[in-house]
Amino acid sequence: TKVAVLISGTGTNLQALMEQTKKPSSAAEIVVVISNRPGVLGLKRASLAGIQTRVVDHKLYGSRSEFDSTIDRVLEELGVELVCLAGFMRILTGAFVRKWNGKLLNIHPSLLPSFKGVNAQKQALLAGVRITGCSVHFVAWVHFNSYYTADINTELNLMAIVFYLSQEEVDAGAIIVQEAVPILTSDTEDRLAERIREAEHRAFPAALELVASGAVRLGEDGHIIWNQ
Ligand code: GRF
Repeated sequence: TKVAVLISGTGTNLQALMEQTKKPSSAAEIVVVISNRPGVLGLKRASLAGIQTRVVDHKLYGSRSEFDSTIDRVLEELGVELVCLAGFMRILTGAFVRKWNGKLLNIHPSLLPSFKGVNAQKQALLAGVRITGCSVHFVAWVHFNSYYTADINTELNLMAIVFYLSQEEVDAGAIIVQEAVPILTSDTEDRLAERIREAEHRAFPAALELVASGAVRLGEDGHIIWNQ
């Protein structure tokens, strides 16, 4: 399975994915690394590994949709079948997520659905939980069932839809792999983030193999299907 990895910075998750897909047993091949920022360490890691890179600098685009369609063009040109967001710090448009529904994986440094959004590690510390972790999930396309479309003309339903769609569903979507990470009483945000990252570097490669090998896929209803 041809894979693209999208990054924005250091690329330690990218590094873990490259090491995993180099194994002869891997079902995945990383064919391109795309960064929305030039000159980041992740691009050097890819080049050192002999993987072609592209920079699609979001500052050069007038709109999110132009940025996303440029990314999409690169993916299509290279015959990409799966996309891994590895420390990618952009929110993708609904159109892009819809097109790549079931083929778009993201890593988030918390046990979803807890602590969505930015600074998930800090959120966990502030919440006083004793266990946090990381989650690899399909990036959800926010969809609603026929209930809403059945009688769309009533004011209430229209408001419900507007409210529903306005909830930027970031870090939502069917969960593929999670790994728990204990929070130590001595933990600072940095120490905890580092320990979660070690878990990420196991969870993301595991999730990529599950999806690339077909062991796991996203069902029509947005839930995970395990091919037993
Ligand atoms: C990681 O903490 C990951 O959870 C988040 O991006 C951070 C940096 O990842 N999504 P990387 O080192 O660039 O892979």
